[in-house]
Amino acid sequence: MSMGSDMYRQQILDHYKNPRNYGDLDDPTFSHVGENPMCGDEIKVDVLLEDDGETIEYAAFSGEGCAISQASASMLTDELQGMTLDELDDLDRDDVIDLLGVDISPMRVKCAVLVEMVAQDGAAIHQGEKTSIEKTTTE
Ligand code: FES
Repeated sequence: MSMGSDMYRQQILDHYKNPRNYGDLDDPTFSHVGENPMCGDEIKVDVLLEDDGETIEYAAFSGEGCAISQASASMLTDELQGMTLDELDDLDRDDVIDLLGVDISPMRVKCAVLVEMVAQDGAAIHQGEKTSIEKTTTE
């Protein structure tokens, strides 16, 4: 294992043990829930928008999951602060995997991208671009 990936592993463990932005927002602009059907783990993302209606003031998450899903949720909610909904929409799975900084096995990619898919679907529903998703799944 290289020094670099060791550092990232430590960072993942730190985010898992001390998740940033964990909890529920009192008055979110929108909330959305998603599930990784491989394991049944669920994550909820709450987003508060600024008055312009498009810039993310704060994002929080709650739910249970493995170290990868929780670290990914902790890191992504950090990244979302100050981002616009368009920028959120432009994120792809590689962006999240880059944030984690380690090679993710195909099985665990769903763990890594769950939070991103939940946040993107929540934003799309809020903007009226998607209407019928009760719960996002990573299938
Ligand atoms: Fe459930 Fe990773 S094992 S989210």
